[in-house]
Amino acid sequence: MKRSIIKSTGRYLPERHVTNEQLTEIMDTSNEWIVQRTGIEARYWVEEGSSDGTSDLAHYAARKALGKAGWEPADLDLIVLATMTPDVNVPGSGALLQNLLGAKGVPALDIRQQCTGFLHGFEVCDAYIRSEKAEKILFVGAELQSRYLKVTTANRDTAVIFADGAGAICIEGKETDEEVGFITSILHADGGHADVLKFGLPAQKAGNPISVEILENEDHFPYMDGKTVFKTAVTRLPRVANELFKKANLSVDDIDLFILHQANLRINESFRDRMKIPEDKMYNNIQRYGNTTAATIPICLDELYEANRLKSGDTIMLLGLGAGITWGGVIYKVD
Ligand code: COA
Repeated sequence: MKRSIIKSTGRYLPERHVTNEQLTEIMDTSNEWIVQRTGIEARYWVEEGSSDGTSDLAHYAARKALGKAGWEPADLDLIVLATMTPDVNVPGSGALLQNLLGAKGVPALDIRQQCTGFLHGFEVCDAYIRSEKAEKILFVGAELQSRYLKVTTANRDTAVIFADGAGAICIEGKETDEEVGFITSILHADGGHADVLKFGLPAQKAGNPISVEILENEDHFPYMDGKTVFKTAVTRLPRVANELFKKANLSVDDIDLFILHQANLRINESFRDRMKIPEDKMYNNIQRYGNTTAATIPICLDELYEANRLKSGDTIMLLGLGAGITWGGVIYKVD
């Protein structure tokens, strides 16, 4: 049976390192508030005036992962790009990434599931591998969110949280009878909560895709009902983790490392408390990167592989919740 194995990983963070202290010079906030409420100490944003788009960030991370795998772009059977901040509305950034790589003729998909984009994309890649439709897949999560942020006191809830970055993985199909690689996943959506976190405008649904009124009201910046998102995350993440345990016939003790989406350190600490997980079995890097949405989990994976913290035989659980709302998890066993 074909199993999906992570062959290599890569990450890219833009050069502009933005500390909480720097944000206090632009808006009414404080390092203490941001650290206490979110855990974030700094983040990376692209330089002002940079011509890079999301596909460029994805490209930089992808080159690193491909280099480590020893693959050429032409070797790929499929490119998948998860992002909530595509370069343009149409075409998808996956096709732009394909062009930057020079991977002529290789099909390219976009995944638009925001903070759970990596989980959804990973499941799609696994389906391609298991059905033998693809043997070598490049899967990237990339976000350039800073250009969509309004860095003002009125928008400080979103401005301090979201950040830029990209993480890439090369996934290979391996013929084996062993239970390794992508083990199982559970994904959910509840579009009834679409309004709690959205980039609502400009939009076709608004009748007029863009108008002076939209610009004057500043409706084209992200809206977040942080409290509801927070409450939803602290209840649904433990629930889906338990669903995964049941499905895979595993328990907390069988998981070597929990890698949660990095939206708020307090969400992840609440998860750890509820699930009674030892501190050294959770990985967090939100302190250094903020919330990089679809890029978060692959950036975590790249750091962990680099630090030699993922060893053959380790079982990891990836979990996340975000706009949609969507939430879910994946269990993966390191080859
Ligand atoms: N700096 C200083 N003060 C801030 C602030 C900031 N960056 N952002 C908000 N505040 C203020 C608010 O204006 C409010 O002031 P008031 O009491 O005078 O009205 C006060 O802090 C409390 O705001 P509140 O929204 O109740 O804070 P909170 O504890 O809920 O924290 C979030 C806000 C956004 C950090 C938190 O709700 C959160 O992280 N939610 C989850 C968000 C998330 O996960 N998003 C991504 C989904 S993938």
